[in-house]
Amino acid sequence: MQEAIRIENVSVIYRPKGSRKLLRQYLQDRLTGRRDEGFYALHEVTLRVGRGEGLAVVGANGAGKSTLLAVLAGLLEPDEGAVQVDGRLSTLMELGSGFHPDLNGWENLRLYAAILGMARAEVKQRAEAIVDFAELHGYMEQPLRTFSSGMVLRLAFAVAVHADCDVLLIDEILAVGDAAFQKKCHRRLMELRDRGCTLVCVSHISAMLESLCGRGLWLHHGRAVMDASYQEVAAAYTSFMNGTDRHLWDALPAAPVRTAGA
Ligand SMILES: Nc1ncnc2c1ncn2[C@@H]1O[C@H](COP(=O)(O)OP(=O)(O)O)[C@@H](O)[C@H]1O
Ligand SMILES: [Mg+2]
Repeated sequence: MQEAIRIENVSVIYRPKGSRKLLRQYLQDRLTGRRDEGFYALHEVTLRVGRGEGLAVVGANGAGKSTLLAVLAGLLEPDEGAVQVDGRLSTLMELGSGFHPDLNGWENLRLYAAILGMARAEVKQRAEAIVDFAELHGYMEQPLRTFSSGMVLRLAFAVAVHADCDVLLIDEILAVGDAAFQKKCHRRLMELRDRGCTLVCVSHISAMLESLCGRGLWLHHGRAVMDASYQEVAAAYTSFMNGTDRHLWDALPAAPVRTAGA
């Protein structure tokens, strides 16, 4: 299997910054050399994803899914471990990131395309197709703040799937838009994947995710607790979320806390 993504023992530690402290506590900490505790948003995650493979990342809120995607996108440098992502990257992260409310639709299209590394000539050549896909003809001259959130999403999605990418990262936005638009997105993602683009999707368990992703990764408190076929992961995670499997609860690791410099 040719690999597109390799991450080795990756940890991301968040440390509380600027939390208010009494002067006495502050001095005590200074004298004893104690520093604020950090916690692992990701803890020793190792993962390899092949070219053209679809990986669904599931987990409760705060499990570290977006952190993992940010590390893959190169937006976040891990505190420990190594990350390698081969080829061109396209990302669909939080709704509206990379967009500017005062610029009009066309300007935002070009801005986002530039962020994704599309050349000027490519953008020019594909702009019509992008607006077609987003079904936004007649709106593009207006400033983005007049767009509904669904329209912003359609624009973001359309740009991201028209960039030539080897790896596409999608965070929690698959389920937005009406049924017809979702179907169209699904078709497009299948096409990209069949052309060899690697997909990493954070989303809720769904039939759409199942057909896009053969594989699932379950994150829990920053750890990869299950890496298996999508069906297996979806079944285990669903029964965990429904609270039907107590054994699973007991088997899962508690949140690791690290005390720095104590
Ligand atoms: N910039 C940040 N500073 C401090 N803590 C953060 C930051 N971003 C995320 N976290 C924390 O890291 C954990 C993982 O967050 P995240 O990756 O966004 O989870 P998910 O996407 O699975 O809901 C959460 O507990 C969250 O509160
Ligand atoms: Mg998230």
